[in-house]
Amino acid sequence: MVKDSRRYASAGGWGFGRFVNGQPVDLAQHQTCFACHESHVKSRDYVFTRIAP
Ligand code: HEC
Repeated sequence: MVKDSRRYASAGGWGFGRFVNGQPVDLAQHQTCFACHESHVKSRDYVFTRIAP
């Protein structure tokens, strides 16, 4: 995930990317990313992982 609130304004400021063997996967797969992060961790800037205490 890459943060850029202007470029990725429609996805909470996050650009999602997935690479298999160095090649980006198809756009359809990228379009699934935000929906899940949005529905689960919207209140935490769409990030699941927390900083370890
Ligand atoms: C079905 C729900 C779901 C979808 C779809 C999904 N994610 Fe996630 N993502 C998660 C969960 C749950 C975690 C936390 C996993 C863990 O901690 O082991 C996570 C973690 C991450 C992280 C680590 C940062 C964080 O939020 O903790 C990145 C980066 C990430 N996902 C990118 C993507 C990308 C890119 C896609 C699309 C190709 C995607 N995700 C699609 C559920 C999803």
